[in-house]
Amino acid sequence: MSLSGKRVLLIVAGGIAAYKALELIRLLRRADCGVSCVLTENGGQFVTPLSLQALSESKVYTGLFSLTDESEMGHIQLSRAADLLVVAPATANLLAKMAGGLADDLASTVLLATDKPVLVAPAMNVRMWLHPATQANMATLERRGVHVVPPGEGAMACNEFGPGRLAEPPELLAAIESLLNPAPLPKPLAGRHALVTSGPTHEPIDPVRYLANRSSGRQGHAIAAALAELGARVTLVSGPVSVPDPAGVTVHRVETALEMLAACRAALPADVAVFAAAVADWRVDHAAAQKLKKLPGAAPPALTLLPNPDILASIAAPGPQRPRLVVGFAAETTDLMANARAKLARKNADWIVANDVSPETGIMGGAENVVHVITAAGIESWPRLAKDAVARRLASRIAETRSVQQFHGGDGAAAALEP
Ligand code: C5P
Repeated sequence: MSLSGKRVLLIVAGGIAAYKALELIRLLRRADCGVSCVLTENGGQFVTPLSLQALSESKVYTGLFSLTDESEMGHIQLSRAADLLVVAPATANLLAKMAGGLADDLASTVLLATDKPVLVAPAMNVRMWLHPATQANMATLERRGVHVVPPGEGAMACNEFGPGRLAEPPELLAAIESLLNPAPLPKPLAGRHALVTSGPTHEPIDPVRYLANRSSGRQGHAIAAALAELGARVTLVSGPVSVPDPAGVTVHRVETALEMLAACRAALPADVAVFAAAVADWRVDHAAAQKLKKLPGAAPPALTLLPNPDILASIAAPGPQRPRLVVGFAAETTDLMANARAKLARKNADWIVANDVSPETGIMGGAENVVHVITAAGIESWPRLAKDAVARRLASRIAETRSVQQFHGGDGAAAALEP
């Protein structure tokens, strides 16, 4: 595997294992990978800038306020100039700073400012590693997408035994290689068509006012992107949202529930349909063609509401056009499971992805989600995950599902969740 032309920014924090960073630089350079180093103040107690510089054949950055560094390359630029940031060794302190978003030296600032993937290789005393604070910080970082090469087990410099030893340089190199040259993703949904709804609908009251549900569209868009990544041809029918269109997906933008239903019908046939949109339950009968005026002393307008069609229930109704797998959402603030189960039956869905959106969860509009996937066979509860991770997990469950595979003569491997 070649790392030729790739660049790694290696952050060396304070720890006896810092010497292994020297070997890692040697391995990276041998693989023709460019390496720049950031050495923390504590790291400088274990290895010298000169040894890092000699092995990396590149400038070593040490201080946030080093004027030379700032004039040659600011810390923001430094954080983005590499393809990957590697923290080895990553100390408990630096991991805590990363988890807490602190930026009080060059290493933590670069890690906060970067838009590139980050790989951490923790190394510390076994009790420090197993401490709930460190474990909670690691869970936070992993949830945010930070990659980890976990520490190995063995005798430590502090005469204790257990997990905490920095992974060996060849293992770090292998992790770096797989991040910089990822194996092409399998495309288990190649040849399948997936329909996804996302975002709110806007039901006009007049040309300037509307009724709507709260929905950012983040979860639905992430699902469309994840299905496309697995090779599906994806039609995304989206209400008004400000999130960008996912790459490689055909997007139909609509405003109202009636338009969303028409766009979904037009997109059929589909093998899979995922209804993540927050469709307004009602629309205004005879929306005003002109802006309704607030006249002094006049009563507010009385709006007559009509029920909107249930798009999920319409598409999931039995018939030749019904997608093989229909997945609905249930965002609830009370009685999550009971409501979700009832929805599964009432709407003729195969799966319901239920999430608690009561205000105290902080889920609504955020970047994370806690979901339970309900099928006729049972319930799977997933941990709190980034919406992208929920989407990828759901997409791979969909790809594993026998009905989706069999439709096109797939081999029908047993699925964890069956419709
Ligand atoms: O009934 P409720 O709105 O809670 O149902 C949520 C599920 O039904 C979601 O999957 C949502 O996208 C879908 N739905 C729909 N059309 C509606 C209302 C909800 O597709 N009019």
